[in-house]
Amino acid sequence: MAFETIIVETEDHVTTIRMNRPDVMNALSIELLGELSRALDQASADDKVRCIILTGSEKAFAAGADIKEMSNKTFVQALTEDLYTAESEAILRCRKPIIAAVAGYALGGGCELAMTCDFIIAADTAKFGQPEINLGIVAGIGGTQRLTRFVGKSKSMDMHLTGRFMDAAEAERSGLVSRVVPAKKLMEEATSAARRISEKSMLTSMVVKEAVDRSYETTLREGILFERRMFHALFASRDQAEGMAAFLEKREPRFRDK
Ligand code: COA
Repeated sequence: MAFETIIVETEDHVTTIRMNRPDVMNALSIELLGELSRALDQASADDKVRCIILTGSEKAFAAGADIKEMSNKTFVQALTEDLYTAESEAILRCRKPIIAAVAGYALGGGCELAMTCDFIIAADTAKFGQPEINLGIVAGIGGTQRLTRFVGKSKSMDMHLTGRFMDAAEAERSGLVSRVVPAKKLMEEATSAARRISEKSMLTSMVVKEAVDRSYETTLREGILFERRMFHALFASRDQAEGMAAFLEKREPRFRDK
């Protein structure tokens, strides 16, 4: 199915989803979020796809929820429609690795979308922020919770209360992003990381994702128990046998996702 607000391309096992509303800095309309959700579900269901990159333009990953679209909502509408819930949960549903490649503005819902991905690679032009307070609202797609877990209470409070933006260097220093690269190299770097992930066993990638995500949802003790059981379980996989045999035979592994 064709999309109006995103561009989806798949090459070498990597699906790149580019948000594409250039006139409004990729503001996240319900249509865009719905299309993103469908594209992610399609990539999840496609056996050829082994890793996903979510990106925007040079100017903006996404400058937040579409303020024009949101501005006339009433409390009753927001609550009964469960505004942004279904659309934003598509990323959480996806069991394949998702990299956010961020250049320019990642504000409000844009920052929240990036944080919902598995990790963020930033261009040196990236600017992150949760400026909802300037609109008389609070973040609504996980910003108060996720940003706090990424950068700690003090910085998160600062960002949410003042509405200031964080540049790429500060974002890297604070642990919000995994790496910063020159803007021109952003897609090359993200694609190279995605291809590298694609060469691994998908079975193992899914377990890694689940185990790391578990660290946000549970106690340390429970998280370690989960990890240990998954570690034990992977000894039942052919990919464990193949990965270790390949190491011992000094050759590249040929994973089968089994
Ligand atoms: N929703 C709807 N439209 C948006 C938008 C958003 N979140 N962010 C930017 N736009 C639109 C602007 O209204 C403008 O449209 P126009 O040309 O029809 O006037 C266009 O995108 C370009 O934005 P502009 O503000 O002129 O660019 P800028 O370079 O001066 O500033 C930003 C860029 C991102 C700093 C600024 O647009 C901004 O603060 N956006 C809102 C960020 C925000 O509050 N996000 C949280 C939403 S919950």
